[in-house]
Amino acid sequence: MKTRETFSSGLAVFFATLGSAVGLGNIWKFPYLTGQYGGGAFLLVYLACIVFVGLPVMLGEFYLGRRTRRNAVGALEKLAPGTPWKHIGTIGVAAAGLIMFFYSSVAGWVYYYLFKALRGDFAAVTMESAKAQFGALVVSPVTPVVWQAVVLAVVAGILIMGVKKGIERITKTLMPLLFVLIIACDLRALTLPGAADGVSFLFAVDFGKLSAAAVLTALGLAFFKLSLGMGCMITYGSYFTHDNDLFATGAKVALSDTLVSLLAGLAIFPTVFAFGLEPGAGPGLLFMTIPLVFSQMPFGAILLTAFFFLAAIAATTAMISLVEVPVAYLSEEKGLTRSRAVLLSVAVIFAVGILATLSVDKGSLLGGYTLMGRGFFDWFDYISSNIMLPLGGLLIALFIGRFADKADIVRELSAGSPAAARLLPVYFFILRYVTPALLLVIFLSSVGVIKL
Ligand code: PFF
Repeated sequence: MKTRETFSSGLAVFFATLGSAVGLGNIWKFPYLTGQYGGGAFLLVYLACIVFVGLPVMLGEFYLGRRTRRNAVGALEKLAPGTPWKHIGTIGVAAAGLIMFFYSSVAGWVYYYLFKALRGDFAAVTMESAKAQFGALVVSPVTPVVWQAVVLAVVAGILIMGVKKGIERITKTLMPLLFVLIIACDLRALTLPGAADGVSFLFAVDFGKLSAAAVLTALGLAFFKLSLGMGCMITYGSYFTHDNDLFATGAKVALSDTLVSLLAGLAIFPTVFAFGLEPGAGPGLLFMTIPLVFSQMPFGAILLTAFFFLAAIAATTAMISLVEVPVAYLSEEKGLTRSRAVLLSVAVIFAVGILATLSVDKGSLLGGYTLMGRGFFDWFDYISSNIMLPLGGLLIALFIGRFADKADIVRELSAGSPAAARLLPVYFFILRYVTPALLLVIFLSSVGVIKL
């Protein structure tokens, strides 16, 4: 029997898990949504969602992984043999794949923009040329596909090296570097004249903007941010050291991830406001606004490169955690060697991911193929984020809270955790009643059964 790899220390566990949580979501999704839905007020709701939904499910996933030392499907099969519960794992593997189809496409753009920043393409950029450059990228049938292949080759290279030499070494090196780069960008952004408007966009507390939609958004965001519901934390949990304090790891990861999102917001919004631009969400913010504003200020070229480098780090460490889900599954359940499992996973992701890449824009090669108004890219995003993640999370909460052996969970979550005795009763209460109720509401509203 092959010995199964684990991370080598608590620090490695922390950086790898944080590497999964910190992703493109921190840079374009979180800061913008915070500003749009009421700043500090939204932040409070978000933190509540982390405590009542995110952390309970995360700890449940850690338990499943570390207790069984198996992949997402194998873990459930081991604890509940011959029951349909293993499909929590199947949903996870499928969701991880679906997310990768479009996430690798956006990550490809990030790598390409890093390359363009290094080449000096943004030296004399204007609003029009920033738009034109991004517009040309998304409709090109070649460039984004090539960069998607580059991204997947990097991810495959890291994963083939294994859990310790690949995932652990890369995340331990790159996560601290990400912090340094983001703080460098913050220092510059916060010393620009007019930066205060950006800070108040992010933090001003406005309870008036807290609608039901805002609360639902915060819930979905907490889930996506912590990489839950898709087998990721089950798989990483299976590599945790046996005495790692799971409560502490979960809390530290959630807090650090939120800190990275806020630091990203503090680099972006002061800059956007200092140059008198409207903040916008998503790709526009990352690929049009950022080159425009950074290139207009002193040391802009260096900061722009730093910014896309940190975005590339964030995207890469999140992607390795996602691809590890099918890799662990294929190598343990289907008997493939690790290298073959990696190559098969990235080959499938690339083959289907091309459909997402070539359908992003109406003008893209496959842009005309839509179903109910959505192309491939949007469908992959919608089905995974709105349906599979909340469903996976709901099933995990039900399994851990109502089906699994409570004494076994208590034993696993207490290992190495001095605070466990006090936290466990609260944990079980939240997981049994609060978490499933909230996840059910998100799920029903995202499939349109209830309207909030
Ligand atoms: N947490 C990552 C982000 O916020 O960008 C995205 C992500 C990674 C989602 C891994 C899901 C996942 F399993």
